[in-house]
Order: sequence, then C-alpha cells, then structure tokens
Amino acid sequence: MTYEEAKAKLKVFGQEHLLHYYEELSENEKTALLEQISSLDFSYLKEFGKRSLPQSRGEISPIRAMREQDIAPQREKLSETGLQAIRDGRLCAVLLAGGMGTRLGFDGPKGTLDIGKTRSVFIFQRLIENLKEVTDAAGTAIRLFIMTSDKNGAETRSFFKKHDYFGYPEEKISFFVQDMAPVVDDAGKVLLETPGKIATSPNGNGGWFRSLAGAGFLDLLNREGIEWINVFSVDNVLQRIADPAFFGAVLESGFASGSKVIRKANREEKVGVMCLDDGKPSVIEYYEMTEELLDAKDENGEPAYNYGVILNYLFRIADLTEIMNSRMQIHFAHKAVSCLGPDGLPVIPDAPNAWKFELFILDLIHELSGCLPYEVVREKEFAPVKNKTGSDSILSAQALLEQNHITL
Ligand code: UD1
Repeated sequence: MTYEEAKAKLKVFGQEHLLHYYEELSENEKTALLEQISSLDFSYLKEFGKRSLPQSRGEISPIRAMREQDIAPQREKLSETGLQAIRDGRLCAVLLAGGMGTRLGFDGPKGTLDIGKTRSVFIFQRLIENLKEVTDAAGTAIRLFIMTSDKNGAETRSFFKKHDYFGYPEEKISFFVQDMAPVVDDAGKVLLETPGKIATSPNGNGGWFRSLAGAGFLDLLNREGIEWINVFSVDNVLQRIADPAFFGAVLESGFASGSKVIRKANREEKVGVMCLDDGKPSVIEYYEMTEELLDAKDENGEPAYNYGVILNYLFRIADLTEIMNSRMQIHFAHKAVSCLGPDGLPVIPDAPNAWKFELFILDLIHELSGCLPYEVVREKEFAPVKNKTGSDSILSAQALLEQNHITL
C-alpha cells in the first residue's frame, strides 16, 4: 500500500492522524506502518457509538439441557457413537490461545504456565494429555489447530517445539494467528503505540473461524472430510477435549452445535449462561446478565438461568461456513493501554484510557440452527486458571487436579 492509499483508507474512518509522524520514520518503519494500515480492519470503528447501549435482545426464556442424570445411563452408547465418528475422521479441535492472560498477571502465553508442584505441569501439557486419552482410545490422532495472536504466536510455537508437542504427532498440530483490532481513545481516535505502530489488540475469541479460514485451513478440512470442530479455551486444565460422549450426543441430537455446561456455583459466578432468545439457543455473558435474570426462578424454585458455559463447544463446519461472513455483535472493553500521548510522549495509564473491540464465540450459538446444552460434572471438568488468587486461580485448579488424581 502506498502512502496516498493509506491516507485515503484512513480518511474514510477519520483517522489520518495515524500518519502524523510518518516523515520522521526510518524506511523500514514506514513500510511496516503502511502494511499495518493496509491489513487492519477499521470497520470496527463504525460501531463505536453503540458502546454504551445495552445489547439488544429478544425475549429471554430458560433453556432445557441434557442433564447429567439423562446422560449417565446412555454414556457408553453415546461414547461409542462419538469414538466411531472420530475414527471416521469427522472431528478436529481448535484451541483458543490468543488471549492475553491479564487477570493472571502472567506475561507469557497462558498455556506455558507451569502449575506443577513437584514436577513441571504446563497448561498446554495438561490439555494435550487430555486429548491423548481420547485419541489413544480411538486409535487415531485428530487435527489440532492452535489459535494464537500477534502478541504470543512465536513464543507459543517455540514452546510446543521445545517440548516435542508433548508427545502428540507434530504433523497433526497447526497454528494460526487471530486477527487484531485497533484500539481507540474515549473520543474514538485510534491510538499509536509508537510513532510508527498502531495500538492493536486481539479481536476477542469470536473471530476464530474466520481467522482459521483466512489461514487457508478450511480447504484442508473440506479435503479431509472433517465435518465437526471442538473448540475449547486454554485456561481450563480439566478440559475434556474431543469427548466421545459429548460428540455422540450432539451427533444424535441433529443440532448444528453443542455446548458443555455446568450448574453455576453461585449467583455471581463469572460464566456465560445459556438461555433461549426469541426461542433460539443463545448465551449471555456474565457481565451482561441483568438483576432480573440473575434472580429469576424456575417452577422448582431453582435459578432459571443456571447453566454456565465452560467454553467447550462443538460446531458443524458446514453451518459455520454459512454464517462466517455475517456481521457479529461487537463488545467493548474499557482498558488501561500504554500508548503515545497527544504530545508525542509515551503514556503509561493506571486507569482505563482506551477501548478494545472484541467478538465473542458465544454469539455464534444464536446464529446457528440449534444447540445442545450438555451438562458435565463441574468437579471433573472445570478447573479454570484465570485469577492470581481466590476462585479460578492456580491454587483452586491445583486442588481440583489432585482431586482427579493428577500428580502435580
Ligand atoms: C470465557 C467465556 C465465558 C465462559 C468462561 C468459562 C467468552 C467470551 N467468555 O470467559 O462465557 O463462561 O470462559 O471459563 O467466550 N481468547 C482468544 N483470543 C482473544 C480473547 C480470548 O483466543 O482475543 C481465548 C483465551 O485465550 C481463552 C478463552 O478465549 O482461551 C477465554 O477468554 P477470556 O476472554 O479470558 O474469557 P473469560 O472471561 O474467561
């Protein structure tokens, strides 16, 4: 992209100030800045005016889930169905590892965190060990795609290589990088990180399928006849991946997607919650729950919106492909971001000064024709590492791992 083209693109979005320092840059910096302007999607900015509006929703009502007690008697049969489909090559997995781990205060990629006590137990290692249990039982390895971001991609790849992919076949693991979004100030002006670099942040976990396709992997999936994707988050060290019973249940349901859910531990637990939105399965993120929904009760006096998602979804690829180009809801996060101030000097804020744009994976559910909420036992499948201390911390996850007889 030439300077003139970059200027014209920025003009459309009222962001020409990003070229303010252009003449002062080295030739390499100039090229890098023009490249960044060329590749960055500025269309997020069009939605900025909506940041203080509540998300518009239809009529919300409770959803029925396939409960633990419904699953238990048929678990063996469901597992057989799922295992056979895995052997038939119908499933792959996507690990979402592009997040920043800010709440944990850990600088590196979250998956490289060592949660062992007497030996090294890295988060990535735990996830691969869990996946291997299934692929060993199936007698075949499935493809695993790992989504990273600009910020942690190189480190994640070299970590896996250094650890020999934790014994998983290297040729079955592929990495792709998620898209980034521009970061803006309170007035909607895109910030510069340095005179030659625009401030950006990963665009949330909702753009993963578009990024996977953008990296050219959709062709590979079609070529190999893979029909389903199991997507999961990096931070749950008890995550069951490619769970045959879950896969079997979703296949038998005929729905285009499935979501593992747990009963919420308490009213305030920070998990997205499943519901029906105008009669269609949907997920409401925890900070978008109203008091009314939090307090609503079902006919037995139990909380009506109590099925929390653990970020483990199954999606049918054909259905995702159909909706992949439709516009997704944008969520706005007010954060403290180091940047260049108006006077050209670096600013390191201690309070939120900037807005990040994020897409959420949970918004995909509502766009699809159906979803099976599938209940799992929290103590066996949900040990997230999100916070430095307290709930969902390394300590709480370690306790749950030990309860599940994992040596740390
Ligand atoms: C997430 C879910 C929430 C669920 C909870 C369960 C979303 C938006 N929220 O909350 O509904 O109940 O997990 O623990 O799905 N990630 C990326 N790129 C990004 C941002 C995140 O790959 O740009 C990945 C992270 O690496 C992680 C996962 O997405 O694997 C979860 O991200 P996070 O933003 O921390 O969501 P939570 O608040 O934990």
